[in-house]
Order: sequence, then structure tokens, then C-alpha cells
Amino acid sequence: MKRGLRSRLAQYGDEEFALFLRRGFLKGAGFTDEALDRPIVGVLSTASDFNPCHRTAPQLADAIARGVRLAGGLPFVFPTISLHEAFAYPTSMLLRNLMSMDVEEMVKALPLDAVVLIGGCDKTIPAELMGAVSADMPAIVLPVGSMLAGRHEGTRLGACTDCRRLWAAYRAGTLDGDALGHAHDQLMPTAGTCMVMGTASTMASLAETLGFTLPGAATAPAVSSDRIRLAEATGTRAVAMAIAGGPKPREIMTKAALRNAAVVLQATSGSTNALVHLAAMAGRAGLAFDLAEFDRVGRAVPVLLNLKPAGNYFMEDFHAGGGMPALWRRLRDHLDLTAPTVGGETMGEIVARWPAYTDDEVIRPLDNPVWPKEAIAILSGSLAPQGAAIKLAAATPDLFKFEGPAVVFDGLEDLAKRVDDPALDVTPAHCMVLRNAGPIGAPGMPEAGALPIPKKLGSKGIKDMVRISDARMSGTAFGTVVLHVTPEASAGGPLALVRDGDRIRMDAVARKIDLLVEDAELARRRAQWKPPAKPARGYGRLYVERVTQADKGCDFDFLAGV
Ligand code: FES
Repeated sequence: MKRGLRSRLAQYGDEEFALFLRRGFLKGAGFTDEALDRPIVGVLSTASDFNPCHRTAPQLADAIARGVRLAGGLPFVFPTISLHEAFAYPTSMLLRNLMSMDVEEMVKALPLDAVVLIGGCDKTIPAELMGAVSADMPAIVLPVGSMLAGRHEGTRLGACTDCRRLWAAYRAGTLDGDALGHAHDQLMPTAGTCMVMGTASTMASLAETLGFTLPGAATAPAVSSDRIRLAEATGTRAVAMAIAGGPKPREIMTKAALRNAAVVLQATSGSTNALVHLAAMAGRAGLAFDLAEFDRVGRAVPVLLNLKPAGNYFMEDFHAGGGMPALWRRLRDHLDLTAPTVGGETMGEIVARWPAYTDDEVIRPLDNPVWPKEAIAILSGSLAPQGAAIKLAAATPDLFKFEGPAVVFDGLEDLAKRVDDPALDVTPAHCMVLRNAGPIGAPGMPEAGALPIPKKLGSKGIKDMVRISDARMSGTAFGTVVLHVTPEASAGGPLALVRDGDRIRMDAVARKIDLLVEDAELARRRAQWKPPAKPARGYGRLYVERVTQADKGCDFDFLAGV
């Protein structure tokens, strides 16, 4: 197999000429022949002025390049699509598959022997791993790292759990605009990703657990020297992978690794979004992420990590408390520690050499968990024949069993228009249903599942209600929220047939969610249902025509498989 600049030559019908030309352009950029004969490591940078979470990506790329040169390689930094949660209309999820295609195609097109993937903000690491698994070139992930916690009037604040808490208090009238404004300055106090166990922290943790990073890479704060040293070490390791030609992503993304990810997702009370991303990443390796198995894993694995929103602490505390290998040590009886990592060690070898110190308050022992049961459960029933997810660790136990009438919102516009209408017929005994917010419906399955509590109830002190939708929810959010109802309403799922006043019964402990309407009546309603109009052209058209449902990862059907 051709290596370095000799690989993947532009096709002019004359390979030697193509190489002559390629080297000529690099000579023109000041490279010597000696430099051009070295193993080449691509450094995929997600730096963007529109992505403040990745503000340190250029600095990390420099440190990675230093590590590459120290090991005798030649680094090339190149850009890719960069997605930030607050800067992608209508939702970053719509663009995750596009980013994954960009990653895959550029990794396959460029003359690199290994690639370092700098990611962090929610969709970036999933997109990078989806693309890397499909390209199957040696690849190693470097998360940008999380922000430090903010401090305000004696309280530590975390994006975005506290953004939501403060906003809910402001909506309910218990916090005024000035107080909100003062806290606003401290919610995102440094560069880096959200520092609670939201989706970014979850995906970094799962990337480390799957074996795609060096140990410690999930947790070191973005602005720490640990992060810069990790970047240098990652560059050095990438050269060894370039020379050895591996390990390749499909050697790392195995059934055992995916099961380990399921264990850690439950034990960290991670983001429900990870269910969708794990299914998509597994699909790229020709594997399935089994939701029933995930649910079974959860029954045996309590929540050990004491991070917001389920607990009290932040990613910097997780790092100082021992980091991911310390959590693996706690979970050793539930994990397959023979699983390999890109660093060349198995998980078990890392655990064996990792410092013994573990902060028992942040990374709890099995006999003193944060939450004694599974963090996330998978429900099914007549309302969700292919499943739905609920984060029990962020829900109200008194609402785990619920039966009551639905108040239905037909989409995001309808929700925004009516949720605070004083005339809305809603009481705490209702459940709120949002539909047409799934992969096809929105499109892109936005994080709208934690519907706001109607003002008229919030102002009376109601903080939680059962909410059901085909949307996703931010990993930083909380509440008794049933998500990812599959099939979604816009694909003709039963959610499309619910009407105001229909009774819905949920038993989260028994894993059931049912629409209590006669079959004959549902058949009548189905006969009247019409699928939504498709976008006329472009990526939006491709998306709604080829996106799979949540249980398959919302990937494009033509991208799955090897
Ligand atoms: Fe980037 Fe939270 S918005 S990680």
C-alpha cells in the first residue's frame, strides 16, 4: 500500500507526474524533500469563529503538530465543517450526517497515513467517528475539553444545566432580568465544551471508553496544561499509528466496545442523545446498537458519576477525581477490559497502571451510588412500537407511573404559539405531547423534547410534567420527558394519531407507554393522515428522503454498513 505523499494521487493518467506536481506545490510552500518523505498525519481541525466551544482548536492543532514532528512525522492541519449547538439552524443534528460525509470523504481523499480528529461540541465527535469508521483509516480523537465551572454569588454554575434552571426561574417570575443578566456572564466562563454531563461530555467520555482517545482525554479541562500535553501525546501516537497502519477504527468499534459504551452511558447518567449517536456509529461498522441490551445493562449498573444534571459536580472535578479510567476501575465487573484502544493498550492495562487515587464523592463506589438504578430506560408500547427513551435519573419518581389526558402540539411553531396561552386547556394532570419534531418532521430531530412548562402552571410552582415527543433532549436538561418516540409522527407513527384529551398510560418501571384509544378509532384517524410535504431541493430534500429513524441512529440509509 502506498504511503505518505504517494498515496491517493490525483488522477491525471500519469502517477509519477501527479506526484511530481504534488511535491512541486509543497516545495513551493517551502518544504524540503526530507520533510516530504515522512509519514503524514492529518490534523482535522474544527476551529470556527462560529464555534466558541472550539476556541482552543488552533492551539491544540499546534500541540498535536509538535507531537507529530517530535515523533518524526509531518503534520498537515485541514478544516472540516464545525457544528456548535447554538449556531446551527434549525438544529445541528440536521448537519451531523453532512459533517460525517465531509470527514469521511476528506480522510479518503487526502494523502494522509493517520488522522487526528479534534472534536467536542455535541455533534462533532459523533460525526467524526461516523466518518472515520466509514473511511477506516487510522484515526485518534482529541476532544477540545470542557469549560471550567462558573462562579456566581457563592454558587458554581454549569452550562447548560444552570442556563435552563435560571431561565425556568425567570419564566416563572422568581428571578428578575437583572439577576439573570449577572449570572449570564458566568455561565460559559472559559473556552471548551459544556462542563456538565451533557452531550459533549458524554460523547467525549464514550469516545474514550470506545477506545478512540488516549486515557484522560475525555476529562482534562480545555484550558488546562493537561489538555495541551494530551494534544502533544496524541500527535506522537498518531505517527506510530501511521507507521503501523493501525489500529483502524473498525478494529476499535467492536461489539464489546459498544457494550462498554452502554455501561458507561448508564453509569455516568449521560445524554440520551448518545443512544442516537451510538446507533449511527455502530451502523457505520456494520453493527447494531441494541436498545434492549442497553436497557438490560442499565438494570445492573447504577449511576456512579456525581456530575450535573444528575448530581452536583463538573467535568473538572471528574478529571481531578481520577478521570475515566478511575470510573472503569469501579465498573470493572461490568466492562470487557480486554477491549483495545488506539493507544495500543487494552482498557484493562490502562486501569492497572492508572493512579489509584479516586475521589469517592465524585466517582462513587458501587455500594454508594448517586442513583441506585438505571439512568436511562427504553420504553415501548402502542404509542412507540419501535421504542422511546426516558432519562429516569433526571425525572420525577412520582411520575414514573402516569395515566392522564394529552394536550397535543402539532409542531414547534404550534408549541411556541400556544404553550403560554392563558386559555390553553392544561393542568398538572395532563401530559404534554409534541409531534412532527423527529428526524423527518422538524427536520433533524431538534432538542425540543423538554417542552417548557406552560407559564400558567410554572407560576404556580409546577416544575415537572410528563412530556412525550419524537424529538431529542439536551443532555443538560431534566424532567419526566419521554423522547425519540419511534416511528416518529411524520413517518406515520402512532404519535401522529393522538388527539387532545386522549389518555396515555406510562409505566416507566415496566417499560411501557400506551395510547389508550380503540383500534377502530385509530384506523379511522390513520385513513385521514397525510405525510408532510418534503423540502423542494438540496440537502434538506436528501435528508428527509434518506434519514433513518432514531433507533437506527438518524444516519442516512446509504451510509450504513462497511
Ligand atoms: Fe458546545 Fe455545549 S454548546 S458543548
